[in-house]
Amino acid sequence: MTSPDHAGEPLIARRELACGIDRVGMQMSNDLASLPRPPLLVGVLKGSTLFLADLMRSMQIEVEIDFISISAYSSTGSSSGVVRIVKDLEVDIAGRDVVIVEDIVDTGLTLNYLRRSLGERGPRSLRAATLLDKVARRIVPVEVEYSAFEVPDVFVVGYGLDFQGLYRNVPEILAVKDIAKLANDPMLLVRSLFVETSA
Ligand code: IMP
Repeated sequence: MTSPDHAGEPLIARRELACGIDRVGMQMSNDLASLPRPPLLVGVLKGSTLFLADLMRSMQIEVEIDFISISAYSSTGSSSGVVRIVKDLEVDIAGRDVVIVEDIVDTGLTLNYLRRSLGERGPRSLRAATLLDKVARRIVPVEVEYSAFEVPDVFVVGYGLDFQGLYRNVPEILAVKDIAKLANDPMLLVRSLFVETSA
């Protein structure tokens, strides 16, 4: 799938995504195979949903899942990492082996907050898995035990990742070439990626 106007370029194709996720799934299965209870995968809504679905399918051990949703921190570049939980876990994670599942680690503020916040609830162990790691943008150093792909400092959409709520169901990762152009016209890529359905 390509976009004829070149506003978005394929960065990670479907087959490549599947291979990278299988690799991480295998690694996690090996590491987490001999726990007293199945590990709890915590999907960070909404971006991690597609990754979580494929990751858990690729794992060769029993897992449980739960979801958490947090508000975006201020876009002023503040490094305080102040975020707020808007949908909390249903499961009590005390004594559990927990893996936070993220779509992308960018500045690291979100994951840093989640590690701190979930760490205070007394899990037996706490790890993080991410589909994408934008290492070049890191503001706070944060541990990421499992990472499927490192990506350059470009805005990406697809496979769960959005721009203004759009593009999550694109089955591959696209690099947005001109973010200003997309901000001006958020539907720009939709017209080249999907058949238009509305009048
Ligand atoms: P953080 O900067 O590491 O705290 O990442 C915060 C969140 O910003 C991620 O979980 C994503 O939802 C979002 N994000 C960061 N970079 C991108 C991107 O390139 N595309 C889409 N969303 C992104």
